[in-house]
Amino acid sequence: MDNRPIAVFDSGLGGLSVLRALIRVMPEENFLYFGDSKNAPYGDKTTDEIRALTLEHAQELFSRGSKALVVACNTATSAAINELRAQYPDRIIIGIEPALKLAVTHFPAGRVLVMATEATLRERKFAALMERCGQHCDIVKCPCPGLVEYVERGELTGAAVETAVREELNGCLEKAPDAVVLGCTHYPFLRGAIRAVVGERPEILDGADGTAKETRRRLSEAGLLRTGSPGTVELTNSLPTPELMRLSEQLLSAEI
Ligand code: DGL
Repeated sequence: MDNRPIAVFDSGLGGLSVLRALIRVMPEENFLYFGDSKNAPYGDKTTDEIRALTLEHAQELFSRGSKALVVACNTATSAAINELRAQYPDRIIIGIEPALKLAVTHFPAGRVLVMATEATLRERKFAALMERCGQHCDIVKCPCPGLVEYVERGELTGAAVETAVREELNGCLEKAPDAVVLGCTHYPFLRGAIRAVVGERPEILDGADGTAKETRRRLSEAGLLRTGSPGTVELTNSLPTPELMRLSEQLLSAEI
């Protein structure tokens, strides 16, 4: 039995969509969430900037006694997961990545849109993922630089956010997709608006469940799972205003 918390990190509030899945899969674990809303969005920063911020926050989370780190941010995973693993070779570190494998399993010769930040889509890690998964698929990269801010201010539905989604997907929807991969952890909170724009047909997928199950598998393998009473959840943020902390709580329990 290991009571130390599992740290969950994102550039802001998006990682709460992953924390929800982690709690569902491991309700007895203690979680320590950190969102770097002060520096969000990460998606339009340089790789060096994203890497420096991620390494700094990982160090802080490990120094607070975390037994594992979940990088609940596709952008930070793309830019920094190799460096994190090199720096902490004995730690359990799991990084979310766009659920392209899942999409290709469901639609082996399908058309798959990947919505993600500019940084995620330009990194070598994504090119490698595309190469591994995309032999028979038509994979379309859709950078969506303007969407994170809607989630950061809690504007999840309505005409403005739907217009923003439509603008970001402009040109990607000429041919109907079979699947839409939400390759940024903020986007599941905009699922309704995204559904309104892409229509009923495509399956909308994200990597939260896969990441949560992989985290449980790794902790179990290492004998580090906590069992017994329900765990606790501590939410922290680099911009801890009352409004933002309230929004964090709301997103953690929102219907999406
Ligand atoms: N939530 C993050 C991701 O999964 C990044 C959002 C951002 O800060 O640009 O990619």
